[in-house]
Amino acid sequence: MSSDIAVAVKAFQRHFETIPVWAARAPGRVNIIGEHTDYNDGYVLPMAIEHDTLILGRPRTDTVLSLRAENLDRNAEADSSNRVRNPEEPWTDYIVGVADELFKLGKPVSGADMLIMGDVPVGCGLSSSAALEMAALVFFEQAGDFHLEDTEAARLGQRVENHFLGLSTGIMDQFISRCGRVNHALFLDCRSYAYERVPVSFEDALFVIANTACPRGLTSSKYNERVQECGQAVETLRSLRGKEGRKLRDYTMEDLNAVQEYLEDVSFRRARHVITENDRTLAATEAMRAGDAVQLGALMNASDESLRIDYEVTSGELDILTHIARSLSACYGARMTGAGFGGCTVNLVRREDVDYFCAKLLENYQQKTGIRGEVYISAPAAGAGVLPL
Ligand code: GLA
Repeated sequence: MSSDIAVAVKAFQRHFETIPVWAARAPGRVNIIGEHTDYNDGYVLPMAIEHDTLILGRPRTDTVLSLRAENLDRNAEADSSNRVRNPEEPWTDYIVGVADELFKLGKPVSGADMLIMGDVPVGCGLSSSAALEMAALVFFEQAGDFHLEDTEAARLGQRVENHFLGLSTGIMDQFISRCGRVNHALFLDCRSYAYERVPVSFEDALFVIANTACPRGLTSSKYNERVQECGQAVETLRSLRGKEGRKLRDYTMEDLNAVQEYLEDVSFRRARHVITENDRTLAATEAMRAGDAVQLGALMNASDESLRIDYEVTSGELDILTHIARSLSACYGARMTGAGFGGCTVNLVRREDVDYFCAKLLENYQQKTGIRGEVYISAPAAGAGVLPL
């Protein structure tokens, strides 16, 4: 945990003039490899990071959720018995969305005073939304004295995105935010939800996250567009290849090549990214198990190339940042991470040269773009949970 609970308690007391009785936290994540594969029922390999969201609270006698976002310096009220979106205070939607999905499951959600605070960088591909959803879920579990099984918890978070917020996102972010473990990445099969916690134990390498400091543009519409494009490719594959399948997960490069002439170039490239990215993710998990930084780095580079050329979800700044990273000898591999269209990169870097790497990366990035980027170094962190007060 990186956020300071004592600071959060003080902020709660200042705002609500009483003490909190519940506290929950959930981390952000960085995806090491397996990008835009989750909604295609494929494989992902993320790890939770040491940046998290805290929610502190206490019960009320009415049905009101009195919400305080300490970082934003915003206050809002919602009604736990009438759960609707709030366009003026969109940050509340994640919490109210969780309450709504719990209501549909018949779980108790009553009124509470809640303070939200955290240090997951917002809107840059490190899953601040999933951290907020999963922290809210642990909070309501604690307040309502019930417990969801981990897979069910992650799926609930995904439904908040899909139903309440209208985003066609997959399950990766909520899953890792709920199930992360210290010093482990998580290999997840997004169809069966089978997962394996893989130790991150490179002798001489660590992950460095670099932020382009460019807000993501049009992410939700372009993201939903990619989801649709994958669906269209599946339809063509199913009808022309004569092979039953629901998602790109069900097809191979051999299948895709066989129908290439009937597919638009864009559909072909989108599908090629997903199919090859699944293979890379399986290979990367092997490399991770073996502690092979050279092999993992090469797969990260190949993933980035595929995301840039075939999936077209990088941006000018992301490309500059990965290009600079690869030009530095300390770098095993670099790729964009998360949905893309801006946000962060993840780099596998030789441990003894990490300070030099970070300094050079930021210096060259600023020289080329005029933008001051940021770096975060994080060991794999624990998933969501209750905090003692
Ligand atoms: C976002 C979504 C995830 C996943 C990634 C891309 O983070 O929330 O479900 O699709 O983009 O891999």
